[in-house]
Amino acid sequence: MKYANILSKLTLDQKCALLSGADVFKTREIPAAGISSIWLTDGPHGLRKQAGASDHLGLNPSEPATCFPTAAATACSWDEKLGEEIGSALAEEAIAQGVDVILGPGLNIKRSPLCGRNFEYFSEDPYLAGKMAAGYVRGIQKRGIAACPKHFAVNNQETRRMASDSILDERTLREIYLTGFEIVVRESAPASIMSSYNLINGSYANENKHLLEDILKKDWGFQGAVVTDWGGSNDHAMGVKTGSTLEMPAPGWDSICELKKAVENGRLKESDIDARIEELLDLISFTKNAREEKKSCAASEDHKKLARRAAAEALTLLKNEKELLPLSAGTRVALIGDFAALPRYQGAGSSQVNAPHPSNVLECMENSGLELIGYAQGFHRLGKEDEGLLEEAVKLAKRAEAVILCLGLDEVQESEGLDREHMRLAKNQTDLLRAAAAANPNIVVVLFSGSAVETKWRSDCRALLYASLGGQEGAGAVVDALTGKINPGGKLAETWPESYEDTPAKNNFAKTGRMAQYRESIYVGYRYYQKKNVSPAFPFGFGLSYTSFAYSDLRADEKQAAFTVTNTGKRDGTEIAQLYISKPESAVFRAVRELKGFCRVELKAGESRTVTIPLDDKAFRYWNVKSNRWETEGGEYFVQIGSSSEALQLTASVNVEGTQAPVPYKAQEMAHYFTGDVQKVPDREFTALLGHEIPVSKKEIGRNMTFGEMRYARSPLGWLACAILSALLNRSLKKGKPDLNLLFIYNMPLRALAKMTGGIVSMGMVDGMVMELKGFWIIGLLRILYEFIKNLLRSRIMEKRI
Ligand code: BGC
Repeated sequence: MKYANILSKLTLDQKCALLSGADVFKTREIPAAGISSIWLTDGPHGLRKQAGASDHLGLNPSEPATCFPTAAATACSWDEKLGEEIGSALAEEAIAQGVDVILGPGLNIKRSPLCGRNFEYFSEDPYLAGKMAAGYVRGIQKRGIAACPKHFAVNNQETRRMASDSILDERTLREIYLTGFEIVVRESAPASIMSSYNLINGSYANENKHLLEDILKKDWGFQGAVVTDWGGSNDHAMGVKTGSTLEMPAPGWDSICELKKAVENGRLKESDIDARIEELLDLISFTKNAREEKKSCAASEDHKKLARRAAAEALTLLKNEKELLPLSAGTRVALIGDFAALPRYQGAGSSQVNAPHPSNVLECMENSGLELIGYAQGFHRLGKEDEGLLEEAVKLAKRAEAVILCLGLDEVQESEGLDREHMRLAKNQTDLLRAAAAANPNIVVVLFSGSAVETKWRSDCRALLYASLGGQEGAGAVVDALTGKINPGGKLAETWPESYEDTPAKNNFAKTGRMAQYRESIYVGYRYYQKKNVSPAFPFGFGLSYTSFAYSDLRADEKQAAFTVTNTGKRDGTEIAQLYISKPESAVFRAVRELKGFCRVELKAGESRTVTIPLDDKAFRYWNVKSNRWETEGGEYFVQIGSSSEALQLTASVNVEGTQAPVPYKAQEMAHYFTGDVQKVPDREFTALLGHEIPVSKKEIGRNMTFGEMRYARSPLGWLACAILSALLNRSLKKGKPDLNLLFIYNMPLRALAKMTGGIVSMGMVDGMVMELKGFWIIGLLRILYEFIKNLLRSRIMEKRI
């Protein structure tokens, strides 16, 4: 045993105590055994270390830190090395702030454009998401800080995020929702990973044996620590048994007693606890050197420059009619739109960084070389109509040679804890665009949003530049692209459908009830649109440039593809070449093509380069539900090289030897999956896909009832609490600033009270509340009182013992 010496110094109480947090972001220390405490901090695109009062939702201020572009933005760069650079910079700031573990990157799949947290995630495609995330992890860890990729796994909606149950088949799980994590684990060996809040096929991710034991540890060889999402532990003993190392944030003494009891009654072996302690000690020792280094290398000028370069790489040009962009020096421009002065550069929630001086387009125009003739707000960002603002903006537009119109999603649309209700921009923004276009045809829309929006309005603008949520330096990069100082070369990391109605999961995403049914199976994003022949507004992998590229000379075999890219235009630029694999003749249902490689190629005007993209073990595999392993169908495959998922420039055919596996599906029983018509899959086909009956949602009054579900309780107290909570929540949403605390509580199960109150509320007290909600007024109340006193006394005793 690696840490036998340390373990021998610990009592069972102490061991159990080490497996949960001391406070919101710190682990416990036991100096007598030489165990120090470590500090975990969000987040994915900048540090959020709260030196004062801590909370996990970013409510209280945090130390100033560089706010890099969000994952949604950097994914458009398709640049793993950029991820690595950002990761290293995050780690440098972590060292300076005494942080040991960075809670990120987030790499959940964008199953639906409506997930409120999509801005924190990379892509709808697992290969791209996994590669980008692995870059971040490598960058973070090479500085001696631990990364904690999240949220493992199948956590794709915010609605009821702590209680929803993702129901999906094994193939979809492996191919779509786990492949990104597999890439991260195998290619960057994160020292920790964060389990998600939700259940997967009936079992909480944090105690899901299949997920943690069979797949993460056995299949992928993960050796790090599994950390729960904040308040995400359900049954701590079960979690520890299946491989969850650290329960966060601070569940108090109750959790310690739970573990101890489980050992005493044989539910858990002490050796299970020891195994988890070893993982924790590994994590502590992984960060030891960095912790001792404590350099003062806080948010520096270099990091600022990196943030700007990253934002520039992410910029994606979606339309450029008659080469309106770049604007030449001296062009008389009108700048319109609230987002130009009050920037949106990150989303709300636990990832929110306290950026010292976020840039805005209005200020950045100053030295741009353009002649700014005026700025007009144009609209209220929360959607309130205002004729005055619109008229003023149109008047300004009339006088200009070109109009830069900054549109976007407001703060409520993109927040942790909340899914969007639709994919549209506010009507007052599209009305303004139409009116401005009537006054001046030279409209450049710059769009600030962390996820796809409907763009039916795009015929009203000549150019469309997607700025995403580009971090504190995003605005400067935007102005550089408008003036041609840089040449935007980003490509979309998610499909932008014409309308929400077109999306594959629209009938199942974030619906009422506990079950989130993944009926669309593997058909997520472009895998669906292509199979079903639905034309999107902008396909996956799409992005224009101020120059043009040509592709030639493809040579491909099972191992790699080599081809030449030439910059055929007059400007230097970057092309992101994409490699897709397709197998038209297949006994297994499949997407038309799947991304299996990509490469960024920087080329001077007129330059050519031959690039080689290797094909890895994921290129030809699919998960076979009969043999229960990865298999390869034998036969002819096409290697397709594209400038987007729909613009294929070169194709080569390769023959691949198969693994002779049994055919797992009966096509006649699963017609919708073979045609890709998956918006409305009948029950019998979904049952066939799952291989068992579809689980049914039950409303149970129990520890896992959420506050938002208390309206179904048998107690007027529950109804009242729920009504008050809903009213407060609606009021906060109307104000345009989501109240994250209320949102969190609304979706929080009662058990989380015992997990997140630092020991003030015990699980026994929660059980008392449950009795109350079941209608047992007096007994419930007495139980709460009894458990309260018991908890108080027990806490005193435990505190002394540890
Ligand atoms: C979020 C995590 C975050 C944690 C700590 C949770 O609510 O889901 O992503 O790391 O809080 O702030």
